[in-house]
Amino acid sequence: MVDTVTLIYGDKQIELPVLRGTEGDPAIDVSQLRARTGMITYDPSLANTGICQSQITFIDGERGILRYRGIPIEQFTAKPNFVEVVWLLIFGRLPNKEELAEFSELLTENELVHEGIKYQFQRIPVDAPPMAILSAIVTSLAFYHQQFLAVEDRESIVQAAARLISKVRTIAAFACRRSQGLPFIYPDPKLRYCANFLHMMFSIPYRQYEITPEVEDALNLLFILHADHEQNCSTSTVRLVGSARANLFASCAAGVCALWGPLHGGANVEVIQMLERIRDGGLSAEDCLRHAKDKDNPFRLYGFGHRVYRNFDPRATILKAACERVFAQMNRNDPLLDIARKLEELALADPYFVERQLYPNVDFYSGILLRAIGIPTNMFTVCFAIGRLPGWIAQWKEQHIDPTSRILRPRQVYAGPPESRYVPIDQR
Ligand code: SDX
Repeated sequence: MVDTVTLIYGDKQIELPVLRGTEGDPAIDVSQLRARTGMITYDPSLANTGICQSQITFIDGERGILRYRGIPIEQFTAKPNFVEVVWLLIFGRLPNKEELAEFSELLTENELVHEGIKYQFQRIPVDAPPMAILSAIVTSLAFYHQQFLAVEDRESIVQAAARLISKVRTIAAFACRRSQGLPFIYPDPKLRYCANFLHMMFSIPYRQYEITPEVEDALNLLFILHADHEQNCSTSTVRLVGSARANLFASCAAGVCALWGPLHGGANVEVIQMLERIRDGGLSAEDCLRHAKDKDNPFRLYGFGHRVYRNFDPRATILKAACERVFAQMNRNDPLLDIARKLEELALADPYFVERQLYPNVDFYSGILLRAIGIPTNMFTVCFAIGRLPGWIAQWKEQHIDPTSRILRPRQVYAGPPESRYVPIDQR
């Protein structure tokens, strides 16, 4: 017995099927609506529209739940291993020891970038935005790995994914070093995924960066918490581009561009700049809330609010605790953490934020932890992209291997002028 809803319009009525997700989440299937009624639905921000059925990530925004392939994200925090979560998201289950070792080896084999990419960097201005560099260089992987422009079999997808996931660290580190006027540090095949990224970011010739367990764990945790988030803006962008059968490099480069936006992944930079302005006396916490509530002021309380979470973003809760733990381990403090805590406290007591169910999101504390690790602010969104890449790839693959998937091509409601005539220029 299929659930249905009845649509009545004028003297007509039709039954539309209701889909139910694993957790009982209902969706009205309107895929035949236009064919049966001549009508389309209208949902400009897609807030009420599902573009796919997916088995990868589950979010319950009302209860603040986030699960990767059914596993609550809280269960990855004890011994965070980003590469293990990469495998889980892309292949649908946790890897056994052999699978994890084999995949880690594949990432190590692919950690270097083609030397041509190193020369591309010489043409990039030293003050170029790192997200512009990341998008451009990820696209240019298609120059050097043309055998993966049309991947159809599982092995090719694995090989293309491994190249992207491994090389994105090298590209990001090279972009950071270029902006700092420092020499590129090549990846070290003896190091694990996150340790290798830290090595490329912070070692200098003849002085290897000393990787501590708490910093390596913190980076694994950060990447895990950013790894996937169902149909967010950048992931839907990857799906949209990939639906045209565009290659994985092009699709993920498009995802980088979407993530760059300050309403999305770029928010982690905005949060830190907002906290620094408060620290430096240019703004008070109370000013922030006042500006954020002022409809005539474009200011937003960055790091707050979310399209889906109407409760705490579980990632923000985990990151806040991680900040406190890492600072204790480092025997350090950061005034920005105290400011962030105060801002959160003020906002959660303010009717404007309470009525709109605006809570801290993943970006509110992530930057403070990235700072504690030593990542420069202009690299925060790049780090978000490194974390999100496996999610983009998993979602791209899920769509790519689905025989029922079609090119994504939304419709519109036309609101322009009625039919008119062309007027020759000498008559205008
Ligand atoms: C990410 O989708 C994802 O899953 C994204 C992400 C992921 O992992 O991929 O979780 C990552 O992008 C997190 C969000 C990072 N962005 C920010 O922190 C930017 C600040 N937040 C807002 O811009 C906003 O909350 C969004 C963009 C996150 C959500 O936008 P929506 O769903 O379109 O919400 P909205 O703009 O319609 O807001 C509803 C109301 C409005 O007020 P009213 O018109 O009802 O009076 O809430 C207000 C908004 O003005 N509001 C805010 C606010 N967020 C919402 N007011 C002040 N400051 C804010 N941060």
